[in-house]
Amino acid sequence: MSILGLKVRLRAIEETDLPVLHQWANDADLWTMLGGWHFPKSLASTRSWFEKLRSDAANQRFIIETLEAGDVIGTANLVSLDWKNRNAFHGMSLGSSAFRGKGYGQDTVMAMMRYVFDELGLERLDGDIISYNEASLALYVGKCGWTIEGRQRRWHYRKGQFWDKILVGITRDDYYALAKDTGYWAS
Ligand SMILES: CC(C)(COP(=O)(O)OP(=O)(O)OC[C@H]1O[C@@H](n2cnc3c(N)ncnc32)[C@H](O)[C@@H]1OP(=O)(O)O)[C@@H](O)C(=O)NCCC(=O)NCCS
Repeated sequence: MSILGLKVRLRAIEETDLPVLHQWANDADLWTMLGGWHFPKSLASTRSWFEKLRSDAANQRFIIETLEAGDVIGTANLVSLDWKNRNAFHGMSLGSSAFRGKGYGQDTVMAMMRYVFDELGLERLDGDIISYNEASLALYVGKCGWTIEGRQRRWHYRKGQFWDKILVGITRDDYYALAKDTGYWAS
């Protein structure tokens, strides 16, 4: 089973993906744009991270693959799943820079939203973005209907200074209005 968009498929991470995940885990330019951080990461520690995923149902991580050629282009997550309050945190990253700016990000977020609202019955998704990540703000807020719901000042330390964390979110009603207004799934 996979989660389908119009251009991408979100599928489970397999052992064969570990080399590319290890490469992305050590891509400094990529990690500058992401909220998390870690020290330089060995293939062995990427493997042990992967092995722990199997027993961690509340934190789901997927590979993003193009439908056209099956290229592995990035990762998307659905973590901190809270079934009582029906929310979760979502983030994504296109590790292959050649695939950025071509609508794969939009399709990934649309596919994730359709899945969580149509299939999992969630009420909302949360996300956060470092204030200088304009591409991510353009994607989530500009193209995918998310709202800026808050700002935590001086939260991230990067490039020798502190930056704000922008809190973003979308509700199921926001998503259904967006899908209707844009006709995204009819295109
Ligand atoms: C952020 C990211 C997921 C966006 O995915 P993507 O496939 O490039 O997104 P899309 O092509 O669907 O749309 C991105 C939009 O941002 C715009 N954009 C790109 N760079 C931008 C910038 N520096 N400033 C403003 N807008 C920018 C694009 O023009 C596009 O809008 P448009 O279609 O109206 O022209 C991707 O660039 C990425 O993985 N970056 C590195 C990791 C990362 O930042 N992850 C998100 C962490 S919160």
